[in-house]
Amino acid sequence: MREPPLAAGNWKMNPPTLEECVALARGVRDATRELRGVEIAVAPPFVALAAVRDALAGSHVRVSGQDVHEEERGAFTAGVSAAMLRELASLVIVGHSETRRDHGLTEARVNAKLRRAVAASLAPILCVGETLDVRRAGAAEDYVRRQVRADVDGVSAGDLLRGVIAYEPIWAIGTGRTASSEDAQAVCAVVRSVVGSVAGAEAAASVRIQYGGSVKPTNAAELMAQPDIDGALVGGASLEAEDFARIVQYRL
Ligand code: PGA
Repeated sequence: MREPPLAAGNWKMNPPTLEECVALARGVRDATRELRGVEIAVAPPFVALAAVRDALAGSHVRVSGQDVHEEERGAFTAGVSAAMLRELASLVIVGHSETRRDHGLTEARVNAKLRRAVAASLAPILCVGETLDVRRAGAAEDYVRRQVRADVDGVSAGDLLRGVIAYEPIWAIGTGRTASSEDAQAVCAVVRSVVGSVAGAEAAASVRIQYGGSVKPTNAAELMAQPDIDGALVGGASLEAEDFARIVQYRL
């Protein structure tokens, strides 16, 4: 049995003030209050996590971090550990392409972050996806297959199933270009088959796979209708509570 789809808003380095973060969180809560059959999460910047957690306490909206350090503790300036995060959030984004780029992450480090997150009982939102060059070379499926295999190495099926794997083609993030629903479905099916080969058929049938990359109210319905897509990771359009709610309601 698959868990309900998960729609998550990745706020990145937005909105600019704490007050606006709290207002957006409340806006998402209120705009999605009537929606059933879908899990909803927001991923505010680290510094806003406590305020957003408090604003959403007792509501249906889950809180996610945007990254987690792969070490447990110690001299890692600006690092945020899984244990610290667990006090504020129940989910965490791991290996977002912007974090991979900005921090020069290898697959081994993404894997270490994922292991650290699940060890602290954080449900992971693992992001994978190819560059435009890889897509043009016709190698997207192979690339994502290798990424998922490396990233989930040593992570139990149970821990994977508590979270989600997000297929986010890098060329579609923040560009207004969305993968066609056929291309998105094809890669999400590959992700599911990798989970099958590393964690078994039951895990493959149950794992949730999100699509991310310029998801908007106008393209969400078609993407979410694909058999292997179980929700969305939304950047830009998650900064407007009403837009985000319009995306979420397509999965009903
Ligand atoms: P976007 O970002 O919706 O603005 O393309 C998606 C993401 O980075 O998760």
